[in-house]
Amino acid sequence: MDVVISPSILASDFTNLERELGRITTADYAHVDVMDNHFVPNLTLGLPVVERLVQVSPVPIDCHLMIEDPDRWAPGFAEAGAASVTFHAEAVQAPVRLARELRRLGARAGLALRPATPVEPFLDLLDEIDMLLVMTVEPGFGGQSFIDGTLPKIRRARDAVSAAGLDVWVQVDGGISGATIERAAEAGANVFVAGSAVYGADDAAAAIQDLRSLAAGAHRH
Ligand code: DX5
Ligand code: ZN
Repeated sequence: MDVVISPSILASDFTNLERELGRITTADYAHVDVMDNHFVPNLTLGLPVVERLVQVSPVPIDCHLMIEDPDRWAPGFAEAGAASVTFHAEAVQAPVRLARELRRLGARAGLALRPATPVEPFLDLLDEIDMLLVMTVEPGFGGQSFIDGTLPKIRRARDAVSAAGLDVWVQVDGGISGATIERAAEAGANVFVAGSAVYGADDAAAAIQDLRSLAAGAHRH
């Protein structure tokens, strides 16, 4: 299982996003948190900013849409060139139609679950998506602590993906650091979002490398 590291620019300096993207050239993706102040009680950035980030980023953009009505808005992020577009299960009306539309537009399609949202209703739809995001904090803010109660869901998600013989990535987001990444990796996650653990470090590349080797080590066990 390949380890994929996706640092969240939510923890970066918003006055100079191009420079901040330049700190994570060794990452696999740049994770961009889009919040609309309705689905979550916070507001970040939207499509015009993402369109520019796609143009200047040294790594592909992994868009996490914490917004209402993703059926209407998510395709625009794929059209803008985001490599991966993730919408929330709690907000979407027609997840299969939206996932197919995102894939048709050339993006990887991701489905996100809040900590209290069960994975079971979606297990028969796994072949329609490229990634399942198991939120390991309540979405809305960076710097929160990892919720250990999400580990069984990560495990059930990974088991279902394996049983189906699919190559669906399992992403974790929230509270991922050197202290928690091994637990998430052992449970079956392979894509790791880290905001404060990467952008809060003096040496972001070293932080990425540390996270990558801890996760790879946990996968080998
Ligand atoms: C929270 C966002 C996360 C956030 C993670 O709702 O989805 O991507 O940036 O931040 P850390 O890694 O600091 O918990
Ligand atoms: Zn996120």
